[in-house]
Amino acid sequence: MADFDQLVKARHSIRKFLSTPVPRTLLNESLALAQFAPSNSNIQPWHVLIADGVRRDRLKEALMTEAKRAAPVVPQLPEEFKHFRQELGAEVYGAMGIAREDKASRAVAVLRNYEFFGAPVVAIICIHQDLGRADDMSVGMYVQTLMLALTERGLGTCCEVSLAGYSDILRTELNIQPELVIICGIAIGYTDPDFPGNHLHVGRAPVEHNVVYLDS
Ligand SMILES: Cc1cc2nc3c(=O)[nH]c(=O)nc-3n(C[C@H](O)[C@H](O)[C@H](O)COP(=O)(O)O)c2cc1C
Repeated sequence: MADFDQLVKARHSIRKFLSTPVPRTLLNESLALAQFAPSNSNIQPWHVLIADGVRRDRLKEALMTEAKRAAPVVPQLPEEFKHFRQELGAEVYGAMGIAREDKASRAVAVLRNYEFFGAPVVAIICIHQDLGRADDMSVGMYVQTLMLALTERGLGTCCEVSLAGYSDILRTELNIQPELVIICGIAIGYTDPDFPGNHLHVGRAPVEHNVVYLDS
């Protein structure tokens, strides 16, 4: 996939992965490429912990146990933005064949976040607690570069802020230093082509919605 425009459009969130192992060479190449992401003062503030194999399985067990017991600790969306989550939910669950009123199936689908949608690899993305917004932005640029590099190598990804809802579990299981804030996870693996939800390309607003040309 040499064409950059195609690559950007090809990346989309994958919510069911095959159990096929991810070759370390592909991970290493992608991680090396992502190091080229720009960052404020070239701090390169991303801290990335990668779990596969037994570590990943243990993390999944711990997260699933906790997710079945207690709600995640996540900041509430401000009121005016809540409709975005509802609209996305309708698109994502609709593509999975789950009806709006089917609360039980929705709950099962939400739980799948905590088993990384079956992905054999999960990356946990952290930043130092004393850094600010520009540095969060730098980590975002890193994450997008990493996901594009993985996409280019035939892998699927899903960025998962939901994992940060159980930060204590992640800290204990992965021995994360106290000065690091957990931003999100990234599920990484080969896409299950038979899962209808994986073919969803959610809509985007027209450019004019976000961008204003300040013509004279
Ligand atoms: C910071 C961030 C956090 C996200 N967290 C989750 C998540 O916890 N669970 C999930 O299923 N998708 C999550 N997503 C995926 C978004 O829902 C998705 O990127 C968005 O709807 C656009 O769809 P696309 O990625 O398929 O283009 C997250 C994406 C980002 C960038």
